Amino acid sequence: MTAEIIDGRKIGLDIREELKSRIEKLRESGQPPGLAVVLVGHNQASKTYVSMKQKACTELGIYSELIELPEETTEAALLEVVNALNENDRIHGILVQLPLPDQISEAAVIEAIKPEKDVDGFHPVNIGRMQTGGEAFYPCTPYGIIKMLEHKGINIAGKHAVIVGRSNIVGKPMGQLLLNKHATVTICHSRTENLAYHTKQADIVIAAVGIRHLITADHIKDGAIVIDVGMNRDDAGKLCGDVDFEGCKDKASAITPVPGGVGPMTITMLLANTTESAERARMK
Ligand code: GUN
Repeated sequence: MTAEIIDGRKIGLDIREELKSRIEKLRESGQPPGLAVVLVGHNQASKTYVSMKQKACTELGIYSELIELPEETTEAALLEVVNALNENDRIHGILVQLPLPDQISEAAVIEAIKPEKDVDGFHPVNIGRMQTGGEAFYPCTPYGIIKMLEHKGINIAGKHAVIVGRSNIVGKPMGQLLLNKHATVTICHSRTENLAYHTKQADIVIAAVGIRHLITADHIKDGAIVIDVGMNRDDAGKLCGDVDFEGCKDKASAITPVPGGVGPMTITMLLANTTESAERARMK
C-alpha cells in the first residue's frame, strides 16, 4: 500500500481561508482579534516559532503584539505582564512561549492567564472543561490533528488510536480529544514495555515523543494512519519527525510528513482559537 500524504499546509490554508471572513467581521465591528505573544529569554527555537506565529497573524489580519523579556526576568515581573494583558481589551489571546527559564514556574504563569484568553488551552480550567464539556480552548497541536483527520474524512469513532508520548502539550490532551470523538485510546510513553506490540494494534498512531525516527515500519500495521508530531534534527541538521517516513509510507494508508504536516495545523488552530476568543468577547 502506498500512503496518502496528508498535506498540513494545504488543510491549514483551507481553514485559514474560512477564518478570514470571521476576522473581517470582527474588524468591521472595530474589534479585530488580538494576540499577545510573550517570549522570555533567547531560546532560538522559541524565537523561530514565535516569529512564525506573528507572521501568520499579520497575514490574516489578526492584531499581534510581541513582548520580549530578558532571560533573567523574575516570575513576579512576568506575572505583572500577564495581568496587564488580562486587562487589555485589545488582546483576546495570551501566549507565553514555553519553555520558560528555570527561575519561573510555568504552572504559576499558565494559571495566571485568564482562561478566556488562554488560546494555548493549557490553563487547568480549559483542561478540565475539555474533559467534562463546556466552553473551552483546546491545545493547538492535538486540536489541529483532530481537524486534519476530519478534513480527510477519516472516521475516528470506534477506531483504536495509540499515542506515543504523554506531554501536557500534546500526548495527554490528544488522548482526551480522541476519546471525546469516541476513539479507543492507548497512551504509551518512555516506560512502556514492548512499544511495538501496542503501536501495531493501532488504526491511528500518533507519535509525539521527540525521538528521531522512533516509529518504523515494524511498529505499524498495514493500512494504519500515521501522524507525526516530532520536530527533530538529523545529523545534517535537517528537520525530521518521530516517524521513519520513508519506511512507513509504503505500509500506512495515510501519513503526515515533517515538515508540512502537523506544524502548520498547530499555528492555524492558534489563529482559530484567537478568532473564537474575540467572537466570545464581543458576545459578552
Ligand atoms: N512551546 C512549544 N509549543 C508550544 C505551544 O504550543 N505553546 C506555547 N505557549 N509554547 C510552546
